[in-house]
Amino acid sequence: AGTYKTDSERSFVMIKPDGVSRQLVGKIVSRFEERGYKLVAIKTVTPSEDLAKEHYSDLAARPFYPGLVKYITSGTPVVAMVWEGKDVIKQGRRIVGATNPLDADPGSVRGQYAVSVGRNLIHASDSFEAATKEIGLWFQQGELSDYEPVAWPWVM
Ligand code: TYD
Repeated sequence: AGTYKTDSERSFVMIKPDGVSRQLVGKIVSRFEERGYKLVAIKTVTPSEDLAKEHYSDLAARPFYPGLVKYITSGTPVVAMVWEGKDVIKQGRRIVGATNPLDADPGSVRGQYAVSVGRNLIHASDSFEAATKEIGLWFQQGELSDYEPVAWPWVM
């Protein structure tokens, strides 16, 4: 707890089961670390159906929803993370890339590693409201770390 948190926000970022299976966790975490963002929380979770359904509740009416829930609850864990820093919600979406890998910038995670919209490796909150909901859904307050990293001045 310091006086450095002037312009910070937090995003929920999740490496989906295909990212864990494909052993891309380190490379994906590095994108956020190297950008200068602060890691606030990270853990593996094998999501229950309830958790997956609640996370994607806004998409419940979409035809791909059942398949999406099945994919997230495949039994392979996800890596749930919270990243903090200036514009991390918008920048996180840029790091992740467009939903359909065909449209994703080649420099983005999806643009570099993903082929199919149904196996697009990673999730990142798309708004402040979504981030608030998702961080609360996946993490307990006590799991969020408060500290001042070396790189912090660069992302203020
Ligand atoms: P969405 O929230 O629209 O995209 P994003 O992950 O970029 O925020 O959709 C959530 C996930 O649902 C998406 O990452 C992959 C899956 N999905 C499909 O399988 N088919 C689709 O046509 C869409 C739009 C999404």
